[in-house]
Amino acid sequence: MQPNLLILGGTAEASTLAQIISKTEIKARLSYAGRVDRPRPQPIEKRIGGFGGVDGLIGYLKAEQITHVVDATHPFAAQMSLNAVDACRKLEIPLLALTRPAWTQTQGDIWNCVQDLKSAAQSLKQPARRVMLAIGRQHLPLFYSQPQHTYLLRLVDAPQTPLDFPQHILHISRGPFTKAADTAMLRAHNIDLIVAKNSGGKGAYAKIEAARDLGLPVVMVSRPHLPDRPETHQPEAVLDWLV
Ligand SMILES: NC(=O)c1ccc[n+]([C@@H]2O[C@H](COP(=O)([O-])OP(=O)(O)OC[C@H]3O[C@@H](n4cnc5c(N)ncnc54)[C@H](OP(=O)(O)O)[C@@H]3O)[C@@H](O)[C@H]2O)c1
Repeated sequence: MQPNLLILGGTAEASTLAQIISKTEIKARLSYAGRVDRPRPQPIEKRIGGFGGVDGLIGYLKAEQITHVVDATHPFAAQMSLNAVDACRKLEIPLLALTRPAWTQTQGDIWNCVQDLKSAAQSLKQPARRVMLAIGRQHLPLFYSQPQHTYLLRLVDAPQTPLDFPQHILHISRGPFTKAADTAMLRAHNIDLIVAKNSGGKGAYAKIEAARDLGLPVVMVSRPHLPDRPETHQPEAVLDWLV
């Protein structure tokens, strides 16, 4: 049977896989949640929007006669990953996670590792600082409880509703970023603390390297726990898995 692949995307790894697949005869489509205003152009068919929970995903997989699923979502997109595990188990569809290794602390890093974003917000119960809050836009309200800080927010799209931070600076830009540019940005805004998710990968690592060079502390949010599933870090390995 010819594979009919669904790639759950929203990451650089998913885009790399789409490039690889586009050079083959394999039928595949890339799924986006629809969180960013302008998704990058892709060389394979794409679909946009949630499926409607596990039941919706099961319905979609059946209707589209999907034979294989690659979960290439971001490591913090835990709900989608859980839904994929559940739906694929119920339908006995092979599932492979295409992930990036987590960053590990290295010499010169000053990390305070916390369990989740709520704990990261609690760790900011301290006198006013200048904080780069590099967590995307979805969970920013968790930090409204610490209004004493000045926040530097780097977002892909401008917020749709005004943010409730008394002092904040918005940077609308999309990665990948470089160490030199991030060092300059942290200096320009006198940032003295960074809050980051342990996303892994290269594009978002620049700020972590810049923080190391500048001797700045980082509140590093650990990844959510996911059930065991077959996993690779290599987009090319997906082709071997499909045959
Ligand atoms: N979380 C991050 O830090 C982060 C960073 C960079 C990129 N992203 C990307 O942004 C998207 C949303 O992330 P999230 O953290 O909001 O995910 P999430 O909390 O795990 O997912 C929430 C819901 O969004 C829908 N969804 C998520 N990913 C989808 C996909 N690839 N295709 C179709 N529907 C999807 C699903 O809705 P239904 O239940 O209705 O199916 C899912 O239940 C993901 O594609 C992820 O790869 C996330």
